[in-house]
Amino acid sequence: MGISNSSYKAEYQSFSKNQNEFWLEKAQDISWFKKPATGVSERAPGLYDWFADGELNTCYLALDHHVANGRGDQLALIYDSPVTGTQQKFTYAELTTRVAKFAGALEDLGVTKGDRVVIYLPMIPEAAVGMLACARIGAIHSVVFGGFAAHELAIRIDDAQPKVILSASCGIEGDKLIPYKPLLDSAIGMATHKVQNTVILQREQQPADMQPDFDLDWHHIEANGNESLPVAVKSTDPLYVLYTSGTTGKPKGVVRDNGGHAVAMRYSMEYVYDMSPGDVFWAASDVGWVVGHSYIVYAPLITGCTTILYEGKPIRTPDAGAFWRVVSEHGVNALFTAPTAFRAIKKEDPHAALLEQYDISCLKRIFLAGERLDPPTYHWLTEKTNKPVLDHWWQTETGWAIACNPVGIETFPVKAGSATFPSPGFQVEIINTHGEQCQPNEQGAVCVKLPLPPGCLPTVWGDDKRFKSSYLKSYPGYYLTGDGGYLDEDGYLFIMGRTDDVINVAGHRLSTGEMEEILAAHPSVAECAVFGINDSLKGELPVGMVVLKDGVEPDFEQLEKELIASVRNTIGAIACFNRAIIVDRLPKTRSGKILRRTLRQMMNGETYQVPSTIDDPAILDEILGHISSSDL
Ligand code: COA
Ligand code: AMP
Repeated sequence: MGISNSSYKAEYQSFSKNQNEFWLEKAQDISWFKKPATGVSERAPGLYDWFADGELNTCYLALDHHVANGRGDQLALIYDSPVTGTQQKFTYAELTTRVAKFAGALEDLGVTKGDRVVIYLPMIPEAAVGMLACARIGAIHSVVFGGFAAHELAIRIDDAQPKVILSASCGIEGDKLIPYKPLLDSAIGMATHKVQNTVILQREQQPADMQPDFDLDWHHIEANGNESLPVAVKSTDPLYVLYTSGTTGKPKGVVRDNGGHAVAMRYSMEYVYDMSPGDVFWAASDVGWVVGHSYIVYAPLITGCTTILYEGKPIRTPDAGAFWRVVSEHGVNALFTAPTAFRAIKKEDPHAALLEQYDISCLKRIFLAGERLDPPTYHWLTEKTNKPVLDHWWQTETGWAIACNPVGIETFPVKAGSATFPSPGFQVEIINTHGEQCQPNEQGAVCVKLPLPPGCLPTVWGDDKRFKSSYLKSYPGYYLTGDGGYLDEDGYLFIMGRTDDVINVAGHRLSTGEMEEILAAHPSVAECAVFGINDSLKGELPVGMVVLKDGVEPDFEQLEKELIASVRNTIGAIACFNRAIIVDRLPKTRSGKILRRTLRQMMNGETYQVPSTIDDPAILDEILGHISSSDL
C-alpha cells in the first residue's frame, strides 16, 4: 500500500504547496456575485477568514442557480415520512418558489440581513425551507434539534437572540407524538431575550393553541409573502449558528460563514462522496445536527443533487427494512448515516433478510460518521450489502470531513476502525502531552494546524475569547479537535474517542459536564461524576455516580428517578440518562480531580491501572463493590 504516486497525494500536495491558490481554484466551482481575489486572511491572531472580499448568496447557489441553468424540473428534495404515511417531492423550481415566498414573509415580519432566526422543527420540508429562506435574505439561522428540552432551547434563544422562531405544533417520533409548541412556549417563558414572533407549522396530527398576534400560522404568512430575491452577503457573513455540546452546560455556538462553507460543501460532495449534479444523496440524520445542515440541505443542493429528507427511524417505521426501502424507492446513489443506525438494523434483522425485498443496485456507497465505526458493524454491513462502506471523521466545528477515503479522486483499501487520510485543507498532527509530534502508532491529541480550511468555524458566536480558549489554547498554532487518536505507519488516521467531557450517544454529542451540573443541583447531592460507558446499540450511554450530602437518607430508588427526570427535563430524552449509582466516595487525585477515566474503565469491566496520583486507592474497591451490587 502506499500513497506516493496517487491522485490523492497530488491533490494534497497541491494544497500544501499553496493553499490560497488551491482554494481559490476550488472557489471557481461556485457562482459568486463578486468573485474573491483573497484566499485566507488573518483577522486577528489565530482567527482566520476565507475569501474575505467575495460576495454571494448561499440560497441562490442552492436553488436559483440550478433553475437558471436548466435544472428547474429536476427533483431537489424528496420528503419521505413513514411516520405520517406521506411523501412530497419538490423540483428545484418548486422549492425556489416556496423558499422565495417564505423569505418574503420573513421580510414582512421585519427580519433582515444579520438578524437571527431560531428553527425548532421536526424533519419536515419546512425545516429546509426555513433555513434556505434565511440564507436568501441574509438572516442567520440557528436550528435546535427537536429532541432537546425547553431549557436547552431557552439557552440557545438567549445566546442567539432571535427576532423570530420557526416551529411546528408537533413532532412524531416513531409512534409517539411530541407536542413541540408547549416546549417552545416554556422555553420562551424561561429565556430572558424577548422574541418578536413565532411562526408555527400546524400539523394535522396535533394542532397547537396559538397566541393571537404572537404565534403566526406558517401557511398563512407563506401564502401572503411576496417572492423575495437573494441578497448579496459577504463571504464572511454568518450563514448559521449551530450549538454543540462543550464541557459545560453552556453549549458553543459554532459559526458558519457563507463563502468558505459553500466552497467546502461543493468540494466535499465530489471529493468525499463522489457525487455529481443529478445524483440522489441521502443523509439519514436530522436537520438539527451538522450532518443535516451540511448533507441534507446545503451540499446536495449546492451541487445540484436530489436530497432526501426522511422523517422516520432505521427500525420500527415500520421495520428494519426502512433504509433499504428508501434507497430503492428513490434511487439513492449514496447513503450517509451514523453507525448506530446500522447497529439497530443489525439487532432487529441480523441476517438482513429484509434487504432481499429491495433492489438497492442504485446505491454506490455507504458513508458512516458521527461516532466510532466499530469493526463488527463495518464487517456486517459490508458483507450484507456488498457495497463499499466508508468511515469518515468530522465534527460540528469543521462542517465537513477532516479525514476520509477520498473516493471522488481515488479509493484506498479500507482499514476497519480508520477514517483513512486527512482531507486536503486539514493538516492533521498527533501531539503528545509534551506538545511534541507523536510517532506512528503512538496515541495523542488529534490537532489540525492553523489555518483551518474553508467551511470550518471562524469563531464561536459572539465569543472570540471562548473560541480561543476552547480550541487554540492547548497547542499554539493548532486547532484542538477534542479527539484522541493516532496515525499508523501508512498514514491512516484512527480516532479513538474524545479526550474531554463529551460523549457520543447514538451519534448524538452530549456533555457529561452539563449532566454533572444538573445532578449536582439536586438538594441531596454533594458531588457527582458522569461518564460514558459502552453500549452495544448506542455506542455510549451516560451513567452518574453520586455522593450524598451528610445526613441525607433518601429512598435510593426515588432519588435515582428524580435524577433521571431532571436530566430528561433539562436536556431532553435524547440524553438517554437512565442510571445513577449512589456511592460513599468518589476516587480523586491528590489535587482533587475526580478520576472519571478510571471509573469508566471499571464500569466497562476493562483492565485499569490504579493512577499513581490517586489520593486513596481503597476507594476503588468500594466502587467495585457498588458496581457489582448494581444491575449494570
Ligand atoms: N424529538 C423528540 N424526541 C426525540 C427526538 C426528536 N427529534 N429524537 C429522539 N427523541 C427521543 C426518543 O423518542 C427517545 O425518547 P424515549 O426515551 O422517550 O424513548 C429518546 O429521545 C432517545 O432517542 P434515540 O437515542 O434516538 O433512541 P431510540 O431508541 O428512539 O432509537 C436508534 C434508537 C438507534 C434507532 C436512533 O438513535 C437512531 O436512529 N440513531 C441514528 C443516529 C443519527 O441519525 N444520528 C445523527 C448524527 S449522524
Ligand atoms: P458532532 O460534532 O456532533 O458531529 O460530533 C463530533 C464528534 O463525533 C467527534 O469529535 C468524534 O468524537 C465523533 N466522531 C465523528 N465521526 C467519527 C468517526 N468517523 N470516528 C470516530 N469518531 C467520530
